[in-house]
Amino acid sequence: MTNKTLIAIDGPSGAGKSTIAKALAKELNISYVDTGAMYRAFAFKLKELGKTDYTNVSEITEILSESDISFEGGKIFLDGVDISDKIRTEEIGSIASQISSISEVREHLVAIQQNMSKVISMIMDGRDIGTVVLPDAEHKFYINADVNTRAERRYLQLKESGNEEKYEIVLKKIIERDHDDMTREASPLKKADDAIEIDTTFLSLEETINKIISYIKE
Ligand code: DC
Repeated sequence: MTNKTLIAIDGPSGAGKSTIAKALAKELNISYVDTGAMYRAFAFKLKELGKTDYTNVSEITEILSESDISFEGGKIFLDGVDISDKIRTEEIGSIASQISSISEVREHLVAIQQNMSKVISMIMDGRDIGTVVLPDAEHKFYINADVNTRAERRYLQLKESGNEEKYEIVLKKIIERDHDDMTREASPLKKADDAIEIDTTFLSLEETINKIISYIKE
């Protein structure tokens, strides 16, 4: 790898992006930025403020411009408070998905993400990293998996964290989220033309990481 390396990882919900990106960052000893956590952090703030109407764009963007969203030691901070363990709920995911379709919200968060990528090597994961945030990243991967496999993984994750939901509900939500993320006007989820697509349906985490590393070393 050259001195500074940027790796973009995109893909639909539940494909394993975050787990893969985290493990890869550790293996390559570089930073990891979970951009979904930034959308979730802002969603958390709106929930805390009791805002449920996301159509007033000027009000939403004003709140965002007064918010401080940052990462430190792998944790996400909102206005100086570590909220990492409060943003992984289905409710916050759903609000995040809704506000992520507002182009003003995206522009604000994308600017922060691009700034972070200026100085050090990093792996960033999200929906628009290879297409919008880091179009010049040296390595781009699009992580995918069969929708039933993604739902099963999400179901098990929720169960492990004590938030059990019916499998059918989890599957339905994943299908809805795919639809919303892929059809929104502002930076829809889409594989960058120069990204390598990896289908993890039949791959373990270790196999996926090894595959990505072999591409990076090529
Ligand atoms: O990856 P995640 O589930 O934590 O992301 C939550 C929502 O945020 C997801 O529905 C889409 C949105 N998102 C986005 O639009 N762009 C990104 N770069 C990351 C997440």
